[in-house]
Amino acid sequence: MIRMVRLGLLSGLFALMAGPALASEAGIAGGQALASQRQCLGCHQVEARRVGPPFRAIAQRFQGRPQAAQYLAQAMRRGSSGQWGAIPMPAQTRLSDADALRLAQWILSLSDDGQP
Ligand code: HEC
Repeated sequence: MIRMVRLGLLSGLFALMAGPALASEAGIAGGQALASQRQCLGCHQVEARRVGPPFRAIAQRFQGRPQAAQYLAQAMRRGSSGQWGAIPMPAQTRLSDADALRLAQWILSLSDDGQP
């Protein structure tokens, strides 16, 4: 009886600890799908430069900057030029504020794996 209670406590604790990690993985997977849906991947890839800079390079440049997600979300909606090279990004006007912020958070999460 006591053993069962302890087992229950342990698995409860495990669920508590695993919860946030699982949630953020789902968020990252959702980010990729959203980027594909919103046609970002025609110009961006995670690892390689295409028309625009790789998302991972953006993550690395902005890692640790205050308000990075807000800044990047705004850059998508207004467009961006002169930050990464000669080609400008047209304003992504059909992107909602909420989607822009989700995409920005997903992009920033791409530097989390400790890759240089
Ligand atoms: C037509 C091609 C194109 C599309 C579509 C596009 N981008 Fe870009 N993106 C670019 C280019 C080119 C740059 C580099 C602009 C610069 O040098 O300032 C860029 C830059 C960025 C930046 C960095 C901005 C900065 O100020 O450093 C982010 C973040 C970004 N894109 C996200 C997105 C997301 C998310 C989408 C989809 C909603 C998207 N882009 C769609 C071409 C594109």
